[in-house]
Amino acid sequence: MAAPRVVNARATRSKGESATRTRILKDGTIESVAELIKNGSAKNIIVMSGAGISTAAGIKDFRSPGTGLYDDLERFNLPYPEAVFDISFFKDNPDPFYRLAKELLPGRYRPTFTHYLLPLLAKKDLLLRSYTQNIDMLERLTGLDEDLLVEAHGSFATSECIECNELCDNSYVRKHILKGEIPHCKECKGLVKPTITFFGEQLPDRFGTLAQVDFKKCDLLIVLGTSLQVEPFNRLITRVPATCPRLLINREKAGEDMHLGFDFDDKWKYPVLRDAVFLGNCDEGVRQLAKLCDWEGELQAMFEAGNIEMALAEELEAMTLAKEAEEEQKEIEERAKAEQESEDKGEEEKPHVKKDTENILKDTHENHQVPKNLEESSSSDDDVDAITDRLQATEISSSKKDSAPAKDDKPS
Ligand code: APR
Repeated sequence: MAAPRVVNARATRSKGESATRTRILKDGTIESVAELIKNGSAKNIIVMSGAGISTAAGIKDFRSPGTGLYDDLERFNLPYPEAVFDISFFKDNPDPFYRLAKELLPGRYRPTFTHYLLPLLAKKDLLLRSYTQNIDMLERLTGLDEDLLVEAHGSFATSECIECNELCDNSYVRKHILKGEIPHCKECKGLVKPTITFFGEQLPDRFGTLAQVDFKKCDLLIVLGTSLQVEPFNRLITRVPATCPRLLINREKAGEDMHLGFDFDDKWKYPVLRDAVFLGNCDEGVRQLAKLCDWEGELQAMFEAGNIEMALAEELEAMTLAKEAEEEQKEIEERAKAEQESEDKGEEEKPHVKKDTENILKDTHENHQVPKNLEESSSSDDDVDAITDRLQATEISSSKKDSAPAKDDKPS
């Protein structure tokens, strides 16, 4: 890491008092961060991200006024927007979450240009870890090594029963979500929930374990597309070393209102000047950073190749789903045909068995004494039906006896 340049910035803390301050970045711009990367000072980069990196993929973020998800949940009739991700609300009323899950379900969106910064940094052996708040799994779809990824708020990757914690088969859960049904545990019938971290739940152990170590080693923090409103994720920006430069790429400033938070306007006169901000869309900011580091062509190529791969995967999935639907339809038709056939067969056999019954009765009348029970129950057609059923049942049972192989029966 470059030795921080000390500048004698005469900052007047109070009247007459002056202080030496340390300047890590030339200025608070993305250009000064690119300079740091190009001169080899950043070898352990951590990227923190939020919903703002996925809006370009078509997934709403949460808090953008008017367009954010939390402004678009009236249809669920929630007491407050975040209730849709609140564990105690979910236990009483899982329906809103599952209706929303159908809209958010991974597999319908593609990673954005910004997402591909992660595998690019990993390829250059510069990425220490990517910490995301997003549950859309788009980081995974870039091919990023999952060891380099921490999904702080979980994801749809797995699901489990909230009663017995039994892991549930994801295709079972996915099928229910797509059908608009609520999946229940096959073991205890409890409610099943994708392992997304709801409000009121602990973050995954992986988050705490890795953050403990990673942020101490970090020598450049890049924060993308987040309002930094949600604890404890937002406080990660304060856990990097005091001389670690930090860059925010976001539509608006964020993370300034916490102790050791960002200070883009030198409001807090920190002894170290190390914060930079790019105000604008993530894809623009990331493209600018890549251009400044001479990585733009490489990043564009990864993005395009990824899109081709995604298009193929989507086509394959569509074909698989269509084939499954066709097989399911065929099964339904075959079952219906078989039921129809056995019904028809039953009808056919009835006249046959009925005819037999009438012959037996006629024959008995003529030659023999009609057995009491038969005489009484043969007065009408319905009764003949009843006898028919009984005979059919007998006939079926006797035919079974004939076909059952004898003890020592050997095939001829
Ligand atoms: N480019 C840059 N910034 C963007 C873009 C974009 N294309 N789209 C949105 N933004 C910005 C918004 O202006 C906002 O500042 O991204 C930020 C998104 O903030 P939120 O909607 O609050 O999302 P996030 O920070 O990820 O929320 C954190 O809150 O409800 C919980 O669990 C949920 O993980 C989520 C957490």
